[in-house]
Amino acid sequence: MKPRTSRLDRFISQNSDFSLSDTRFLIAQKRILLDGHLAHSIQQKVAQFTHVELDGISLQHEQPVYMMLNKPRGVVSATKDLKHPTVLDLIQHPQKDQLHIVGRLDFNTTGLVLLTNDGAWSRKISLPETKLSKTYEVTLAQPITDEYVAAFKQGIYFAYENMTTLPASLEIISKFSARLSLVEGKYHQVKRMFGFFQNEVLALHRVSVGPFSLDGLEMSNSRQLTIEESQSLMTQCTVQGHQS
Ligand code: URA
Repeated sequence: MKPRTSRLDRFISQNSDFSLSDTRFLIAQKRILLDGHLAHSIQQKVAQFTHVELDGISLQHEQPVYMMLNKPRGVVSATKDLKHPTVLDLIQHPQKDQLHIVGRLDFNTTGLVLLTNDGAWSRKISLPETKLSKTYEVTLAQPITDEYVAAFKQGIYFAYENMTTLPASLEIISKFSARLSLVEGKYHQVKRMFGFFQNEVLALHRVSVGPFSLDGLEMSNSRQLTIEESQSLMTQCTVQGHQS
């Protein structure tokens, strides 16, 4: 997930037999194409998805991939695990081994997980400043009261981090179930918020992250997002105040 932008001369020296200083001559000889256009400066930026050709040979041609999965219970939000199936085991895509997870869910939490190979995209979604809303359906062991609504709106104090959660919106659906929307992603956040009332979470299901919702995607199934969908998320992030 490291930022993968480098200067053209550095990229050429790292990905071919030519040196940093050769790059100037390669440009002058019109031998380098960036996204199909002749390179014009050693200072041009090569990003993760820039297509780079040298003498007609591709040095980099990675395609961005954006996916959503409806994660079932008993699956680890990791790319490798020795004991349990992982979210990657449920994905069918030729580039699946390049994907990383954007916002993990606990082993027994179900619902929407986003995966991508685009580090800039996942960083933007995960940044606390982005304040992207995540909505969960929660089933509780004890009845939920209106007291919870006010407390979650005000914020719950987490001693371990010495912080108070940002205002969250709770809609009571029935005596034992509710829909919770929050803009943070602290460790076990939902369970700990209900834990404030000593009310155990029996089932937790994430239905949406920002503009994405499962919308009928069956449990254990995944689908690729279109470029337009992935960009709509970027627009939403930008509108909410962050642009890196
Ligand atoms: N909050 C939790 O407690 N668990 C999750 O998996 C997600 C949010």
